[in-house]
Amino acid sequence: MDKIRIIGGTPLVGSIPISGAKNAALPLMAACLLTDETLTLSNMPYLADIITMANLLAQHGVHLSMSDQTRGPNGLSLGRILSLNAANVNNLTAPYDLVRTMRASVLVLGPLLARYGAARVSLPGGCAIGTRPIDLHLKALEQMGAEIELVDGYIHAKVENRLKGADITFEKVSVGATENILMAAALAEGTTTLRNAAREPEVCDLAYCLQAMGAKISGIGCDEIIIEGVPALHGCQYSVVPDRIEAGSFAAAAAITGGDVELIGITMDIMQSVAEKFEEAGVSITETPRGLRVRRSAERIRGVDIMTQPYPGFPTDMQAQMMALLSVAEDASMVTETIFENRYMHVPELMRMNAKIIVHGSSAMIRGVPELKGAEVMATDLRASVSLVIAALAAVGETVIHRVYHLDRGYERLEEKLVRCGAQIERITSAKQPLRFEAA
Ligand code: UD1
Repeated sequence: MDKIRIIGGTPLVGSIPISGAKNAALPLMAACLLTDETLTLSNMPYLADIITMANLLAQHGVHLSMSDQTRGPNGLSLGRILSLNAANVNNLTAPYDLVRTMRASVLVLGPLLARYGAARVSLPGGCAIGTRPIDLHLKALEQMGAEIELVDGYIHAKVENRLKGADITFEKVSVGATENILMAAALAEGTTTLRNAAREPEVCDLAYCLQAMGAKISGIGCDEIIIEGVPALHGCQYSVVPDRIEAGSFAAAAAITGGDVELIGITMDIMQSVAEKFEEAGVSITETPRGLRVRRSAERIRGVDIMTQPYPGFPTDMQAQMMALLSVAEDASMVTETIFENRYMHVPELMRMNAKIIVHGSSAMIRGVPELKGAEVMATDLRASVSLVIAALAAVGETVIHRVYHLDRGYERLEEKLVRCGAQIERITSAKQPLRFEAA
């Protein structure tokens, strides 16, 4: 398995292009199942999770083709272009082997059921950060007339004729359930109202793409979304929103090293709650013509209190990175995780690097230390892994991070982007196959 070796202590200086958001790209890919015309997605990141979704769609019978990296007139990367055509879907089963490696696979359920009247999708099971049920997805589909049975670890869903519009109130804000039902409702008969819907920029991105495909949706970005079902959708071209979590991760890396970095392609509007906490911690984030500039304005990071919340609150996907940053603050911080029950896997690893953190239930108290120290540590999930990279970039001495395949799920060319800003980071590769796009 690959490892990453980092020698800490060099301030990051330079510019970093921000890729398209993984969490927007995955549902957008699933949306291709809603039409027999071609959906063309640009600004696509090239990541292990994207390849998993491509392989899942390919085994349903979707035809996919992906371009090489594209560049704009100024030489900046515009990501890749992915074309998806679901005119010849011949298999309605999402198998366990693919779903268990990536929970977002469950996003094929709504579109398959809406367009073909049936789907068989493996139950995703738990993951490193919690039990993560999908009851909200299933309950909403049942309200729309689907018959759902759980058989041998699979969800068997079917509907006579079309799904029917319904008035759905989610008990909890769920990104995935909102996305699944948005897609299902786009092709349902009649009007669907989603209350307590997720408002994340990635959910909005999906809704805007569905609109471009001919869906009738109002209330995008609000917690009440109204979808008037249409009999068919068409193809379109759509560009994936930039990755606010990747941008926030690099902002934390710039801040912890006392650097000065321009994050190219990201905008302040989707970074507000994160930018506010950085400002409180003594890190200035300002708009530039190309993106955002991040630099430390205080001598030392200041302690801040953070509570994760659905958007527009502070994202759970930035919690671990912020904790790495706060571990070198001049005073104490309190972090409270309200979205997932087991999202402190990075804490014991950060403690191996001299961080002083105490976890009590869903809260963690971080007492800042003057410096972190390099150590051998283990990546446990995607955001936990990048928090270790951030800590290592500031730590005294050498850090070796094991199990970095987690990073490849969500960070495109991470080492290359950091090296361009002066970081001393290298991948120690084991004899493993490189990432490969297998679809036809
Ligand atoms: C998405 C993101 C993930 C992010 C999370 C929260 C993708 C691919 N992943 O995950 O990176 O951390 O949003 O912002 O976009 N829940 C239920 N029942 C359900 C569904 C969810 O109880 O049917 C609970 C979950 O266990 C969790 C909370 O609701 O406690 C929020 O989960 P959800 O927003 O659904 O997360 P995902 O869509 O899986």
